[in-house]
Amino acid sequence: MVVVKTSNEQIKSRLQGYFFGTIHIMLGKTVKDFYSAFDFEKMLVDSPKEIQDFLIGEIEFIKNLSKTGKILEVGCGYGRLLKILSEKAEEVIGVDFSKQLLEKAKENLEGFSNVKLQEMDAQNLLFANNSFNYVVCLDNTFGNMPGIEDKVISEMKRVVKKGGKVIISVFSDLAKGVQLENYSRIGLLGIKDTGNAVVTDNGFYSRRFSKKELEDLFESAGLKPTISSVCPVNYLALATK
Ligand SMILES: C[S@@+](CC[C@H](N)C(=O)[O-])C[C@H]1O[C@@H](n2cnc3c(N)ncnc32)[C@H](O)[C@@H]1O
Repeated sequence: MVVVKTSNEQIKSRLQGYFFGTIHIMLGKTVKDFYSAFDFEKMLVDSPKEIQDFLIGEIEFIKNLSKTGKILEVGCGYGRLLKILSEKAEEVIGVDFSKQLLEKAKENLEGFSNVKLQEMDAQNLLFANNSFNYVVCLDNTFGNMPGIEDKVISEMKRVVKKGGKVIISVFSDLAKGVQLENYSRIGLLGIKDTGNAVVTDNGFYSRRFSKKELEDLFESAGLKPTISSVCPVNYLALATK
């Protein structure tokens, strides 16, 4: 029998996730509503230096990956990273639950013949087990998933091949100041910090993770991650299945 231990920190962060997920539903706004209505590119362009370092660091990380067969990007948005990922595999699939962002990705990726896009919720990846060499979730997309992080990470593990890599890059627990600065800069309304995440009136939820929280999430999915940082406000977790 396998006994899965749940730490107090894990229980607390799950409860916070469910709580803030529920609050959003009660307010009638979800993360999906936010990304479907908001010009997400605004959040990245001219962002504070710490965010630029995060974005550049992730791109450097991708460029250093060895070339492989098939990559899945979970939460691909308007396709910014798919362009770079396209150089790293024979086939790249980007999934996102926002139709609007996928439309933009389609325009941006015209001519990238090895990239495909599919509308999909990360909680329910419509791929067979063991399909991809790398499954990646970058730019704190994993921090936009209140209450479903366990489900998403198990789905990522399920669809990655044996010996393949699950890679998740998120805001570290040092990111609060720069999150607040960036979200105020672009005029998000009703910004609040909950202790481990920033939430707004229009459904946005952006969590930060401690190293331990990330390790626990991977471990409850049966993965052992190596955690590094591409900059001070980032953790990048990589696990081989
Ligand atoms: C922070 S953006 C990152 C976009 C892209 N990876 C990039 O770096 O430019 C997060 C993206 O994840 C998508 N997303 C969030 N939760 C999702 C879910 N449960 N299923 C699918 N997509 C999701 C959003 O629609 C948004 O496009």
